[in-house]
Amino acid sequence: MTATPSCLLPLKGRRALVTGASSGIGEAIANRLAAAGATVIIVYRSHSATAKKTVANIEATGGEAIAFRADMAKERDIKSLFAQVLKKIGPLDILVNSAGMENKCPFLTMPVKDWDQVMSVNLRATFLCSQLAAQSMVKKRRGVIINISSVHAVLPWAGYAHYCASKGGLEMLMKTMALELAGKGVRVNNVAPGAISTPINDSWLHDAAKRRRELKRIPLHRIGRPEEVAGAVLYLASDEASYVTGTTLFIDGGRTL
Ligand code: BGC
Repeated sequence: MTATPSCLLPLKGRRALVTGASSGIGEAIANRLAAAGATVIIVYRSHSATAKKTVANIEATGGEAIAFRADMAKERDIKSLFAQVLKKIGPLDILVNSAGMENKCPFLTMPVKDWDQVMSVNLRATFLCSQLAAQSMVKKRRGVIINISSVHAVLPWAGYAHYCASKGGLEMLMKTMALELAGKGVRVNNVAPGAISTPINDSWLHDAAKRRRELKRIPLHRIGRPEEVAGAVLYLASDEASYVTGTTLFIDGGRTL
């Protein structure tokens, strides 16, 4: 295989950790960052086979990746993940908080267990991972943190009070981190996808009537691809975005218009 010229590898020599990287948007981000030259740490909870497949695919194209298991709902798992990564790979340059979950549940009867579960994966894990990553990033005075948010950080969604609250919370968490870390060399931003064709949306993507209803709400009139979200993450992770911090990039086909 011929080597890719380094000018085409904007992330060469950088270490990137991506949570929720065994499927959907997280997997596309892992592939994209690896193709840009980063060594990618793929974090998964239950899909070990797909995580290993992603590592193998990245290696087959000349990239570097390694998979680690951690449950983002558990503080203990997150702490041990970061300790292992620091020891085996070294300090991170890039953190992408992509692990997330959603489950439909009416507000009036939502059990606190559902609320806590969604909050712990979508918001608390982002806080914990970012804190651990940032503690070593500030020592080198270099680092980038990117959170995968949602159009539902700004658009309410009936049946998803916990999900919307977690994504809305991510907005202010990101802005406050960006403000506190700006003078220490660390940039923090969010990427907010709309409807993207990933396994999380399987229930309506293959249902013609529901798909039509969703398309009516999207000015570009199509469902997005995970690679289109990954492109935005690559931009924010690279030095091309060196003057960008504290912002949210919507990748939603105009859904929030
Ligand atoms: C959700 C998807 C939903 C999309 C647009 C995303 O945050 O994860 O399930 O289709 O927003 O509503």
